[in-house]
Amino acid sequence: MTDSADGERFRLLYELGCAFVAKTDLAELVPFVIAKCREALNAESASVLLLDRERNEFYFPYVSDENAKVAGVLAQLRVPADRGIAGAALISGKPLIVADAQNDPRFYRNVDTETGAVTRNIIAVPLTSGRGIIGVLEVLNRRGGLSFDPDDVALLEAVSGSVTIAIENARLYEQLRSSEATLLTQVSVLRRDLARDRRFAEIVGSGPEMEDVFHLMESASASFITVLIEGETGTGKELVARGIHRASARGEGPFVAVNCAALPETLLESELFGHRRGSFTGALRDSPGVFRAAAGGVVFLDEVAEMPPRMQAKLLRVLEQEEVIPVGDSFPVKVDVRILSATNRDLKQEVERGAFREDLYYRLSAFPIRVPPLRDRREDIALLASRFVANAADRHQKRIAGIDPSAIDLLMKFDWPGNVRQLRNEIDRAVALAHEGDTIGPYHLSPTLRGAPARSPITRPSSNARALAAPSDTDAANFSANAAATIQPLREARSEFEAKYISEALRRNGFNVSRTAEALSISRPALQEKMKTYHLR
Ligand SMILES: Nc1ncnc2c1ncn2[C@@H]1O[C@H](COP(=O)(O)OP(=O)(O)OP(=O)(O)O)[C@@H](O)[C@H]1O
Ligand SMILES: [Mg+2]
Repeated sequence: MTDSADGERFRLLYELGCAFVAKTDLAELVPFVIAKCREALNAESASVLLLDRERNEFYFPYVSDENAKVAGVLAQLRVPADRGIAGAALISGKPLIVADAQNDPRFYRNVDTETGAVTRNIIAVPLTSGRGIIGVLEVLNRRGGLSFDPDDVALLEAVSGSVTIAIENARLYEQLRSSEATLLTQVSVLRRDLARDRRFAEIVGSGPEMEDVFHLMESASASFITVLIEGETGTGKELVARGIHRASARGEGPFVAVNCAALPETLLESELFGHRRGSFTGALRDSPGVFRAAAGGVVFLDEVAEMPPRMQAKLLRVLEQEEVIPVGDSFPVKVDVRILSATNRDLKQEVERGAFREDLYYRLSAFPIRVPPLRDRREDIALLASRFVANAADRHQKRIAGIDPSAIDLLMKFDWPGNVRQLRNEIDRAVALAHEGDTIGPYHLSPTLRGAPARSPITRPSSNARALAAPSDTDAANFSANAAATIQPLREARSEFEAKYISEALRRNGFNVSRTAEALSISRPALQEKMKTYHLR
């Protein structure tokens, strides 16, 4: 070897040394080293053949070849580990130098057949680690028709140790990366399960319909899609909205609820979008509005169907532009919130009626969730009642022994126009009436419940319930049956009739208070008062 060649090799060894120290990206390091070895030995091809112990085969994870096509074929190739020059180096554990491959009996021709190249000479150096030989470093075809010499072998031997370590590290790193990815996936699934268990735990629901609701909630939690929650009054729409928010990635962010039915138009606008001081009477200072207050979290638009048309247009603009213009201001402000909304009306029908903008409807209802009424999931009544008894007992600091089966029987037979909220109010009232240590029985329940008409002939009230039942407004035969037992005071019977009548009117008017009041020819406040008295809300 000439002095200049020596100098060249020294430089390359030096570069390799630097690369081992500096290249932290293992995926880059080994290919770099292989390419440098090829360069140092002035060869056409260099590759690492790694041993697949299970199949006793070599494969070519790292190839540096002057012909890209050959490199591509090699990358896909597998060869028997006990054949060829590489196989011989593996078995002997010693480096080999072959000057005339084509005439060497150990030569394995299939590789040439596959690649279309012609192998003339080879150096093969085993890659030995503490755990045995992991493969072979091979360099092929010295350029210029020359052969490799023992100095070349020495050079490769010198780098083979570092190459082995780099490959082992790269493998370990890959293993770590893939187990990290597996762990991360497992953690996120567990976290979601946990979130569901913990965050949706306050929502009682056991039947298939509620199972659907839980699934939809999970999907909604996994994204920031706009959700419309529909369902009758008191079915738990707000509970669902809060559950979705808490289980979502922004769960720690604010959840700001606005009741669109509770505020007159002008106040609603400033409530939502904020206002500048002095922009209207009473605007004493700047207000950010809920859209800005909820930055990074959720704005919950409750009773969204009640939003006046002008506000609907403004809301649409917010959703489209993701910015608000505060009242009294002319500059839009960017907002970053998720919109969840709820309604106890059929919003699609409101669109058809012309009361709700279609474009806004499609924006809000990107992901609709319908919460079923309590009468369609009676299997939850007993569970809800027990939970509410425990909660109320806690609040009233009263020891309550539970609920009597005959009371459960009555709860199961009632139709619950006010849904879960009405059930909770009923239980609250019962617990307030009960004495320390009592079991909640039929006599703790309100007359409306005790007088509930049977839903169907199969579920007639038990004799116990019938004795306590009040006369039904719809069923004269029922009255005569009950008359034999006890006669109620007229005032109580009248109240009972009124409660049922109002509850039916509410149902027929989609639980819209204004429309029901109109239908009953009484004022809205008067209706609200009665609904309160009869626990219809
Ligand atoms: N599945 C449920 N499990 C436990 N509690 C529930 C459930 N559904 C509703 N509730 C309780 O019933 C009450 C009413 O629920 P919520 O306010 O979420 O109903 P809503 O559908 O928003 O009613 P509205 O249409 O009148 O606004 C709350 O006290 C809530 O905690
Ligand atoms: Mg609500």
